Amino acid sequence: MAQSLWALWMLAMVTSWLVSRNTAMADRPTAMFIFGDSLVDVGMNNNVPSLARANYRPNGIDYPGGVPTGRFCNGRLISDFLSEYWRIPPALAYDDPANMGETLLNGANFASAGAGILNDTGMVFNKRFPMDQQVDFFREHKEKLIALVGTEEASRILAGASVSITIGSNDFLSNYFIPISPRRARYTLPEYINLLIPELKRQVMSIYEIGARKIVVAGVGPLGCIPFIIAMRFGTNQGRCVEKYQQIAMDFNARLVSLVQELQETLTDATFLYSNAFDLSLQLIQNPALYGFTTVNKACCGRGPYGGLIACNRFDPVCPDRTKYVFWDPFHPTEAVNRLVSQQLLFGPPSVISPMNLSQLFA
Ligand SMILES: *[C@@H]1O[C@H](CO)[C@@H](O)[C@H](O)[C@H]1NC(C)=O
Ligand SMILES: *[C@@H]1O[C@H](CO)[C@@H](O)[C@H](O)[C@H]1NC(C)=O
Repeated sequence: MAQSLWALWMLAMVTSWLVSRNTAMADRPTAMFIFGDSLVDVGMNNNVPSLARANYRPNGIDYPGGVPTGRFCNGRLISDFLSEYWRIPPALAYDDPANMGETLLNGANFASAGAGILNDTGMVFNKRFPMDQQVDFFREHKEKLIALVGTEEASRILAGASVSITIGSNDFLSNYFIPISPRRARYTLPEYINLLIPELKRQVMSIYEIGARKIVVAGVGPLGCIPFIIAMRFGTNQGRCVEKYQQIAMDFNARLVSLVQELQETLTDATFLYSNAFDLSLQLIQNPALYGFTTVNKACCGRGPYGGLIACNRFDPVCPDRTKYVFWDPFHPTEAVNRLVSQQLLFGPPSVISPMNLSQLFA
């Protein structure tokens, strides 16, 4: 009697374990694929001759182990928080030598600092991987997956993966607005945006054709509020966000919103989301106390006015309390902001991520 009760109990345990494991499997992505620029780069440029690299201190000062990894941040990025939440190992940089074998099943991060939609964006940094190159890497990754697990399983992984695209800021900051810009000489801003959007559309469609089915396109952040831009207007703008660049970000983002809608209407077996980094970051900047921040226009690490003129360097002092700063360096947010944004992407309202949040996308 005792023995059969024991067997029954064991059976119940095993069943509930299997059930909970299965439901856990269903409410998260199969893998993560990340396209973009330095906002989401985890070290793509570490192994190439690039000036856009962050694999030195004090970057990573709050990262597990305090190590600089290539992330332009004191700590973790949005993708790190998402992978922690979903309990999938973080996707490695595509060109990381450790990105091989079973590790490929977790996805990959193609994002490269200095990169843009256009190939000539970020030329001043020497080597970087523009969007078109990142899309080629995604195609290569798929081939590797097929070799590893076969066509059917590879397709299942790609279709169930969280795919994000965070690109565009550099097409303005490291292309159109550089001191001697052939693009600016040739195009008005509206014309330039008209050039960017169809290229991005083509790139997102390729990502779809390769097999992605859950695609999040991120709008650019409040470009006019980054310490780099605020420092350029030192003396005339009193540390406030610079309207001209805010307007550019809004104009570009408005086109992204339409692009996402258009893609959704044509590619109906995929789900496209738009994440509104602009409004969310602007909220933090305008109501810092509400979110626990004190310093919104000054880089935690960087030199010149507002710490915004010279990138965070090896020997630069670092602000003591990184959780109180919105910006880590002249261009990039702190881990504290990334944590908040990732929570909003998972559970937030349509004003942050539309037409649904990430927990709904993977429900
Ligand atoms: C970038 O270069 C590649 C290879 O030369 C080309 O196929 C692609 O169309 C270019 N992309 C853009 C956005 O100009
Ligand atoms: C986010 O998604 C959840 C479902 O997981 C949903 O219940 C909730 O309403 C969404 N959040 C907001 C604020 O819309």
